[in-house]
Amino acid sequence: MESSQESRLGDKVVYQIYLRSFNDSNGDGVGDIRGITQRLDYLADLGVDYLWITPFFVSPQNDNGYDVADYQAIDPLFGTMGDLEELISEAGKRGIGIMLDMVFNHTSTSHEWFRRALAGDEAYQDYYIFREGDAGHLPTNWASKFGGPAWEWVPSLGKWYLHLFDVSQADLNWENPKVREELEDVIRFWKGKGVKGFRFDVVNLISKPAAFEDDDEGDGRRFYTDGRHVHEFLKELVAKTGIDGMATVGEMSSTSIDNCIRYSNPSEHELAMTFNFHHLKVDYKDGEKWELMDPDIASLRRLFRNWQEGMEAGGGWNALFWSNHDQPRPVSRFGDDTRYWRQTAEMLATCIHLMRGTPYIYQGEELGMTNAGFSSIDEYRDVESKNYYRILLDQGKTPEEALETLAARSRDNSRTPVQWAPDDKAGFTTGTPWIGIPDNHVTINAEAEVADPDSVWSYYRRLVGLRKSMPLIAEGDIRFLDVASDKVIAYERTLGDERLLVLASFCEDAGGPLPIPVGEGFERVIGNYPDVLMGEGRVTLRPYEALALRFAV
Ligand code: GLC
Repeated sequence: MESSQESRLGDKVVYQIYLRSFNDSNGDGVGDIRGITQRLDYLADLGVDYLWITPFFVSPQNDNGYDVADYQAIDPLFGTMGDLEELISEAGKRGIGIMLDMVFNHTSTSHEWFRRALAGDEAYQDYYIFREGDAGHLPTNWASKFGGPAWEWVPSLGKWYLHLFDVSQADLNWENPKVREELEDVIRFWKGKGVKGFRFDVVNLISKPAAFEDDDEGDGRRFYTDGRHVHEFLKELVAKTGIDGMATVGEMSSTSIDNCIRYSNPSEHELAMTFNFHHLKVDYKDGEKWELMDPDIASLRRLFRNWQEGMEAGGGWNALFWSNHDQPRPVSRFGDDTRYWRQTAEMLATCIHLMRGTPYIYQGEELGMTNAGFSSIDEYRDVESKNYYRILLDQGKTPEEALETLAARSRDNSRTPVQWAPDDKAGFTTGTPWIGIPDNHVTINAEAEVADPDSVWSYYRRLVGLRKSMPLIAEGDIRFLDVASDKVIAYERTLGDERLLVLASFCEDAGGPLPIPVGEGFERVIGNYPDVLMGEGRVTLRPYEALALRFAV
């Protein structure tokens, strides 16, 4: 299916800013909006087109801003409306658009709507999902994604309310047209400020079932994931706010290819692209995030193949990413972050940046930042991590085992401050950072890497540049290739007479020459080794090597 999306977003790259950890301009230890403005030249130099900024709205910060108490006001912790206007304008001068993060599945329980609901106002109770009952009986057995039941009892009302996330994040009732209108106002407000796009938090969970029932197979997600009215709600939101064609992306939890085609095919007028997370569960033992396992690269390859080829066939568009503020650092997760640190970081980048879709770079990934290396529970800040620490202990794990699990899986792994410089605060703040800074900032930092043509940063910059200079990358078709080693991912992009072969090895030894004959008539477009190791027309991949070869047919 033809899609106009390719020409619209295929050559774009998005950079994600986790605001509290990006850059602190006022010395309070928390990143802020002016801190972004100070670093715009760095971002322009990297070549990115959009900045997705995580929520800076008024919030009690229980879930670091994903618990919004006022959608149209900026939390003083992060700055002022004037700061944001300055950022939008300064970014615009550098050809960079700002994307805001809309958390519309739930509000903070400190939001005025929820407060009114608690005070007994039934019109506002209908903004949320309340159920009559008694304190001894949960309405359903659904689980919160942050651990424990998804319902909380309110004694003063004699009712339960639904929270798919933290107890301080109450799910909104999208069946109520008033709720939808309120949220449309929010979009119109920010659009009026000149932002160029939106990321929609867990947006495929907004449509709940007509009747609430126990889930005898799971945690309840099958009843509300890609729910019955989600496509119509999105179409309505997009049409009424006029954001069709803007840079919009939906975060889709446990979704399917068919649904993501509908969310992102331009003819549906929903979103420009979707995030899915299936490829980031290949190291979950039995599908359990808190059970450790080495990544299964064969399933990673199968998932990439299914999603890349499937979305292409249906005219859908993928957001390409390894990392965000909810995921551990990929270089520590999918490779070797000590002996082959640079090779791993560059291999991972090559693997997804040359796919079909729009790449996202999560702050610090372009420097090869690693997991946090925390070894005490006091170092963690994240609500999910703290909840699960308790749950793991309750399950009988020792504190050492629980800490080992957090060290691999905690969301705080990617929330440590961006390592700008080798000094003791990593150039992030002059004050006390809100969360610890890994010791390796002494060597892994922007100051050193921007100056070094062989750094991970310079490699990312080249990849971003290639997407802009080669229509084959921005617009080409994609096909995955079979390779004997289940630690190697290989695919081909084609456009007109041109073909690009991309190889990525997730291991030290891929077991000899690849079974893909490449001959001699190629041009090496990029790679994380200085040359191509060839023998009899075949390539042999070195530890964590990635390579892209162009052929003209
Ligand atoms: C998304 C956000 C995550 C947040 C959750 C609830 O998954 O990325 O940080 O905790 O939604 O809003």
